[in-house]
Formats: sequence, C-alpha cells, structure tokens
Amino acid sequence: MILKTYKNFNSKIRNKLIDRLKAKYDKNESGVSGILSALSDFNNYVIVLFNNFEILGAVSYYIKKNYIGIDHIGVIKQRCGYGTILMNEVFNIAKQLDRYPVSLITNGYSNEFYEKLGMKRSNGNKIPASYEMTG
Ligand SMILES: CC(C)(COP(=O)(O)OP(=O)(O)OC[C@H]1O[C@@H](n2cnc3c(N)ncnc32)[C@H](O)[C@@H]1OP(=O)(O)O)[C@@H](O)C(=O)NCCC(=O)NCCS
Repeated sequence: MILKTYKNFNSKIRNKLIDRLKAKYDKNESGVSGILSALSDFNNYVIVLFNNFEILGAVSYYIKKNYIGIDHIGVIKQRCGYGTILMNEVFNIAKQLDRYPVSLITNGYSNEFYEKLGMKRSNGNKIPASYEMTG
C-alpha cells in the first residue's frame, strides 16, 4: 500500500481518480462518497491510499496557523484499517509541521472511529460533534 499527497490545484490527476472511482463503484455508498468529497475538495490537500493503483481511501485537510483541519474522509471497504492509516498520516504531518490540534467535525456516525484513534470530543454533547487530537 502507498500513500500519495495531492496539493491544491492538482485537479487534472484528481479528476482522473474521480472518474475512475465513479465508473467502478456506487457513488452514493458512504465510503465512496467520502472519498469523492475528499478528492473534489480542490482547495485542500488530499492524501490518497492506493494498493496496486486501486484507491482504498482518501482524506482531505487544510493547514492553518495553529492547527490542521480535516474536511472529508472515506474508504472503499470499512473496518480494514484504511481510515486509521489515513488519519495517522495527518497526525504525522501535524507533528512534522508542529500544527496541533488536528480537528474535525463529524456527522456523528463515526465517533467510535475517532475515539479509537485517541481523539477527544471538544464540544461536549453537541451534534454534530467536533473532535481534536493534540500533539
Ligand atoms: C469513518 C471511516 C473513514 C473509518 O474508516 P475505516 O477504515 O472503516 O476504519 P478502521 O478500519 O481504521 O477502524 C479503526 C477502528 O475504529 C473503530 N470503528 C471504525 N468504524 C466503526 C464503526 N462503524 N462502529 C464502531 N467502531 C468503529 C473500531 O474500533 C476500529 O477498529 P476494529 O475494526 O479493529 O474494531 C469509514 O467508516 C468510512 O469511510 N465511512 C463512511 C464515510 C464517513 O462517514 N466519513 C466520515 C464523515 S465525518
């Protein structure tokens, strides 16, 4: 498996990946839809996880002065560890750039995933929930 990061404006490659995914998978499936949202997030960075040129998952994020924000994440097949690989890569980037916390807002369906990663809820019981990982 390899991880590749695409930066802003690299839209030609991203559009190719989007077309490839749409041709092969149901774009309404939640994991696929998460990947498509991450790839379509053209103003943000996107990390894509590949295996033999097949996309397994993607996460999009942006870098601010004092933190990193995650916008979208999705995987082709759930509970195979792909989401963890992607999130750990964002945490590594935050560490390298000294940009903590890593924060995100969730739809509420993936809270156990973020909690398993060690992220902490930052807005009490409110829905949608926001989570943070501090360095
Ligand atoms: C959220 C998402 C990216 C997680 O990625 P994933 O590859 O399935 O997660 P992992 O396999 O790395 O899971 C790691 C751990 O998180 C927890 N976890 C993940 N999904 C879970 C679920 N649906 N229910 C309970 N725990 C879950 C488990 O503890 C899991 O470890 P285990 O499988 O050994 O028990 C994926 O489920 C997904 O694409 N969902 C649809 C899109 C989406 O909802 N995006 C997030 C919007 S906020």
